[in-house]
Amino acid sequence: MSKLIVNGGSPLRGALRVQGAKNSVLPILASAYLTNGESVLHNCPELSDVQAACRILRMLGCHTEITGGTIRVLPDGAAGTFIPAADMCEMRSSIIFLGAILARTGTARLSAPGGCDLGPRPIDLHLYALRRMGAVIRETQGQLVCSAPDGLCGAVIHFPSVSVGATENALIAAVTARGCTRIRNAAREPEIVDLAAYLQKCGARIYGAGTPELYVEGVPRLRGAEHTVLPDRIGTATYLTAAAVTGGDVTLYHTEAQLLMPVLHSLHRAGCEIECGDRQIHLTAPCRLRAMGEIFTAPYPDFPTDAQALLMAAASVASGETRFTDTVFPHRFRHVAPLCAMGACITVKNDEATVRGVEHLHGASVQATDLRGGAALVIAGLAAHGTTTISRVCHIDRGYEHIETALAQLGADITRKAEHPGRDC
Ligand code: UD1
Repeated sequence: MSKLIVNGGSPLRGALRVQGAKNSVLPILASAYLTNGESVLHNCPELSDVQAACRILRMLGCHTEITGGTIRVLPDGAAGTFIPAADMCEMRSSIIFLGAILARTGTARLSAPGGCDLGPRPIDLHLYALRRMGAVIRETQGQLVCSAPDGLCGAVIHFPSVSVGATENALIAAVTARGCTRIRNAAREPEIVDLAAYLQKCGARIYGAGTPELYVEGVPRLRGAEHTVLPDRIGTATYLTAAAVTGGDVTLYHTEAQLLMPVLHSLHRAGCEIECGDRQIHLTAPCRLRAMGEIFTAPYPDFPTDAQALLMAAASVASGETRFTDTVFPHRFRHVAPLCAMGACITVKNDEATVRGVEHLHGASVQATDLRGGAALVIAGLAAHGTTTISRVCHIDRGYEHIETALAQLGADITRKAEHPGRDC
């Protein structure tokens, strides 16, 4: 079991390279199962979720090799169709393997995916898309038993609501389906554009990535490809917000400002000066942040739900009142209780959290509740007076590459303490 120990009060200063995007590399790794020939993926973050995805690939019969930030995947000859429950539970993205397995082998068996507890996370839209393409899916004893007796066929898939994961699953399944597929009301996240870019290098014919309508012409086979994963926009938001709450002055490089404009807008509203250059962002924070008004999360290009907890930590010490409504995951407020334990003044009513900024938070012993909620506690700890001890760090390690090393590079007083051996969660 490890814990993060944060001594608050040091303004963050300096420069930091942003890691590759977790939400990009995971679907790309899943889709590599559909290819033939080696793929070489660069800028892969070192995360427990990435290790879990590579374990699944190996279980399916692929050869994988991780060297620093480069992952090689060789799926030739792989024919696995089953993912055990223990591996499915590791992360939400395990469900993205369904489209790839079904498309490659014509059959798949797996259980419900794990991942952060953000309230209900159904998979009906994933199953709807695959059924539209001819998959027969039975749910028995907690397992999904899927087959495509006649192979997957192109179809019109009109999602009733926007889902990142379901769009990815449908896209991956469509690239080698017979005929053409239209995906309407598709998610437009940059990570989907990145997935499409990788698949296009593999020979897929995809049009409209980044728009609400994707058009895919199925091809019989995909080859492997070399690809560099997109920078992590939520990682960028995390380190900028950490600098903002400490009155810091940082430059983040190897990032893309245009992918997180709503977050930059909120930080600017809080009083930060922000300069965007070539693949870098410079933030100078005021002594005390101002409230940010109303923040509504919604699918890209609007304010990302993954940054909600981060900005709520910042709002906790800003002067004035900030209100958050999460329209993507309306109950994504598990970080509120530990923030309040650190002295934050937050009330939640239905899907709205109202934050009245206090002068100071104080250190406390708190538990990370989920990935971004855990990162929010780190941010709060950096702003707080005294020492904050954060347990269940495994949630944070799912999405941040050595978070304590990155923050220490910017001058934060943060260390990891490994206690009794065993699982963190
Ligand atoms: C992805 C991201 C996650 C982010 C989320 C929303 C990855 C690995 N994770 O998660 O970090 O917080 O997008 O930006 O990329 N829904 C259904 N039925 C479904 C699928 C989703 O009703 O079959 C609902 C969800 O409950 C949620 C909304 O759709 O309310 C959006 O979820 P979705 O976009 O699918 O999130 P994920 O792909 O799981």
